[in-house]
Amino acid sequence: MTKSKRIGILISGGDCAGLNAVVRAAVHRAALLGWTVIGVEEGVRGLMAEPAKTLKLTPEMFDGSIVRRGGTFLPTTNTGDPFAFPDQYGDVLDRSDDVIRGYHALKLDALIGVGGDGNQATLHKLAQKGGMNLVCIPKTIDNDIGLTEVSIGYDTAVQVATEALDNLQPTAASHNRIMILEVMGRDAGHIALVAGIAGGADVILIPEIPYRLEHVVRKIEMLKESGRGFAIIVVAESAPNESGNKVVQKYAGGASRYGGISHLLGDRLAEITKSEIRVTVLGHVQRGAAPDARDRLMASVFGVHAVDLIAAGKFNRMVAWRNRNVVDVALEDVIKAPALVDPGGPIVHTARGLGICLGDA
Ligand code: F6P
Repeated sequence: MTKSKRIGILISGGDCAGLNAVVRAAVHRAALLGWTVIGVEEGVRGLMAEPAKTLKLTPEMFDGSIVRRGGTFLPTTNTGDPFAFPDQYGDVLDRSDDVIRGYHALKLDALIGVGGDGNQATLHKLAQKGGMNLVCIPKTIDNDIGLTEVSIGYDTAVQVATEALDNLQPTAASHNRIMILEVMGRDAGHIALVAGIAGGADVILIPEIPYRLEHVVRKIEMLKESGRGFAIIVVAESAPNESGNKVVQKYAGGASRYGGISHLLGDRLAEITKSEIRVTVLGHVQRGAAPDARDRLMASVFGVHAVDLIAAGKFNRMVAWRNRNVVDVALEDVIKAPALVDPGGPIVHTARGLGICLGDA
């Protein structure tokens, strides 16, 4: 019989589909062991606050529709690095000690951190500094976390992007237009590549494969010559412009985010091919959708396994999905490098085998 424990769970970084399912899984598994689970609100910011911002989590809270819902009922944030935390006067402070104090004040035996690779790196640093018992769960629509084949939220985002392509095709064909769909993914092209294949794209442009506009133009001409008046292009938000620079949008307050490559591309292609072009930027609809079955499953597998790791006293680990199995890997190895699209890998090979233009030939 495991000694009763008190564990915390927090979500760091951007939301995605499947987060409610992961919390449900951890809470149910912990309850079966007789443990208490405390939800920490707004990621590590919730631990910084005095008293910490928390929510007691019980299995009964998940009886309703929560597992089916997008977003996260346990609030998250993707701003505010505790080691360089902006204060109200515009200064940057190291508030890592406040987070560590919050963890110990809650008398937690362990903390589950659900996050992307950047969040996991921060949590790992905090755990090392403050003696926190940490287990991480990979989540991000970008699917760019090292040492796991899957992160929660990715599958649903691909589904949303694929449905967008399904809806663009009929209108593209009706008007003989070129439709460009810009999808998220940060520095990785996974969403663009996989949704592009599933959604029947003619051209897919991703940051991992340098492209030349002339190849894209040639593909459009070939389609026209074959009697096809429309074309579908998917571009990842971090695919570079013709000069090789990634395109960003500036937001109020000085923050910048990837966005805008599709419009630049559309203008250039309209100029060169004299075709009618329309652009769709899919944006956050990829994040807010209800989780598909695969994301609910992976969230459940990861949530249960994270609690099992704590029961086994294994810390500084991330749960991962590899070779049809749930495993755990060292956090220090996970954060070494992101998992980008392998240009020599099977999915890229598949796209080429389908005759999809990746802009490099
Ligand atoms: O990392 C997830 C992600 O959705 C990226 O694909 C995207 O570039 C970014 O977050 C958007 O961030 P925000 O929610 O701050 O606009």
